[in-house]
Amino acid sequence: SGALSTPHAVKLKTYPELVVGFAQIGAESEWRTANTRSIQTTADQLGIELDLSDAQQQQANQINAIRSFIAQGVDVIGVSPVVETGWDEVFAEVKQAGIPLILLDRSANVPAELYSVRIGSDFVEEGRRACGELARLLDGQGSIVVLEGTQGSAPMLGRGAGFQECLQTYPGLHVLASQSGDFIRARGKEEMAALLQTHGNSIDGVFAQNDDMALGAIEAIEEYGLRPGIDIKIVSIDAVRAAFEAMIAGKLNATIECNPLLGPLFFATALNLANDLPVEKWIKPDEGVYRQDTAAQELPNRLY
Ligand code: AHR
Repeated sequence: SGALSTPHAVKLKTYPELVVGFAQIGAESEWRTANTRSIQTTADQLGIELDLSDAQQQQANQINAIRSFIAQGVDVIGVSPVVETGWDEVFAEVKQAGIPLILLDRSANVPAELYSVRIGSDFVEEGRRACGELARLLDGQGSIVVLEGTQGSAPMLGRGAGFQECLQTYPGLHVLASQSGDFIRARGKEEMAALLQTHGNSIDGVFAQNDDMALGAIEAIEEYGLRPGIDIKIVSIDAVRAAFEAMIAGKLNATIECNPLLGPLFFATALNLANDLPVEKWIKPDEGVYRQDTAAQELPNRLY
């Protein structure tokens, strides 16, 4: 019988047919440079047309970039929101244009229907882990200073919350002071030097919300005449190569991994979204904790 209709095959998009816009934050840290490199090289390898914008830490620049991606009619938009708030309007414009939106790395404080998926670390858990490491290093007793990242950013807020939550279980540990070093090495050094001037020898531990600030703090502590990693225990987040070198030198005590190599996951997810295939709402990379005792053995395996 000739009554059967021919099923028409759905033609799925392939990587070389994808046009993706990504609104990056800037280049504040080694983590961020590794993240940008991962996105750029993955796009090159897969033959994806990528419009990569660098916002130089300005939310207004990220918003402009997103609007220009909408105007270009890209298939998928990605953004790593520099701060958590202030995104509702532009994200609604993306949704209105029917373009899938991926939050890569940092999250935004918006209703879930305003973006398609977030790919990135559990910052609260990273903060808990950092507190656990400092508690172990200080035997649950001591005064800590905190070097915070960019004010109002998801990793600064999440890591701070996880750290505070875990501190409740260590009554002998307390935070003397917190200062923002913007996730930048030179700023970490500057703030640590100021903290040492004020609190001097009463500082037992440092929680730096990223490795770059810890590396800056190490320099400040040495210039002050104390031994980083010995007189003052230091724990940070990211697990970049320089952190392993500092652990090998005995100057950094532990680093909590935050994986920046998100390029492959980003474009695999973008392709699924462009093809209307289902994706998870939050995709989390697997991450570990690294200490001095295994740093030398781990360094050759580090990819960033
Ligand atoms: O959003 C991730 C954070 O941003 C990294 O921990 C920090 O190094 C970067 O600048």
